[in-house]
Amino acid sequence: MLAFGTASLDAEVVKEKLLFYETDLTDLPSLNKIFEQHAREILGVLHFAGLKSVSRSVSHPLEFFHSNVVGSWNLFHCMAAHNITNIIFSSSASVYGSPERVPIPETEVLKPISPYGETKIVIEKLLHMLGTTGKITSVIPPDIRDLVGTLSALLPAPTADLAYPATLGANNENPSLWSVVILRYFNPCGAHPSGLLGECPKDTKNSNLMPVLAKVAMGELPSLTVFKSVLNTKDGTPIRDYIHVVDLAKGHVAALGKFSTQEVHTFNLGMGKGCSVLEVIEAFREASKRDVPFAVGATRAGDPPILIANVQKIADELSWSAQSDMKDICTDFWRWVEESPVGYCS
Ligand code: UD1
Repeated sequence: MLAFGTASLDAEVVKEKLLFYETDLTDLPSLNKIFEQHAREILGVLHFAGLKSVSRSVSHPLEFFHSNVVGSWNLFHCMAAHNITNIIFSSSASVYGSPERVPIPETEVLKPISPYGETKIVIEKLLHMLGTTGKITSVIPPDIRDLVGTLSALLPAPTADLAYPATLGANNENPSLWSVVILRYFNPCGAHPSGLLGECPKDTKNSNLMPVLAKVAMGELPSLTVFKSVLNTKDGTPIRDYIHVVDLAKGHVAALGKFSTQEVHTFNLGMGKGCSVLEVIEAFREASKRDVPFAVGATRAGDPPILIANVQKIADELSWSAQSDMKDICTDFWRWVEESPVGYCS
């Protein structure tokens, strides 16, 4: 399920050949086939898959629940069927909504303000059940049970032996408890310093800040719309905790150490520092030596004013902290953009 396309990537970045299967988590038979082929070699799963545009989740909530929740349900089903019980899940700071405490500790009340954030909470809840009881059964809160039932009814009918289970692991008296690590990402951005791996979204209307900034700097878009903060911040633009993708990847490597602890661990993955949108624009101008025209527009639906991670827990328990700053993020992202102006389409 994982791989990167080009020979140069294999040689220069990933060093070893990775096996790649292109499939969709909502396609249960196809997913299950991969597990059947490789179950004995799989020590654990790093679950990154999902839709992630907050604005699109506001306009297309069902698409998000379908893809993120049903997809995860299928994945957990295949894992349970093949006795694979180690997982690291990519959750999001969006589970906090507009939190009262900033920097935000993992114990903050979860009050998402977008359907995207809601999907992450449902998946976290399912993982909590697997981590604490080894199964997802009739104790599933009705809202989740109904949701998964409704959404799976929209999917193409699975083959008889792969019928969507109403419960997961319930027939087993003593199911193994799962080792679960939930990583709540703040704002991942940047690119691999080699310039070979990066993000190149096709849909710039629903894209994150950095790819749009790059397109403006390249002259492909005339200007950036800066979404105003709903509350006062130092310069009137929202504040986010931006984390370099390489730091993020290293956070996952650190989290692997929690496999086989048969517990549920939840960590924030961020820098622990905030930048406003205007500060990001300035750092990007300096790194790219290009002009970035912008105009301040209305607040974007689902955008909280300020999100900064409390990163004490991950530092204490995993000895991990982010090393790169906004300058590194912009420099590496600009290198990727200059070297791969059309992303992976070349
Ligand atoms: C959101 C999620 C985050 C998730 C990420 C993945 C929330 C609160 N955060 O981050 O957990 O990992 O999506 O997509 O739901 N901006 C502009 N103009 C633009 C684009 C963005 O001003 O054209 C601003 C936004 O208002 C925001 C900042 O840039 O303040 C970052 O936006 P973006 O990169 O889209 O990420 P978030 O929405 O913060």
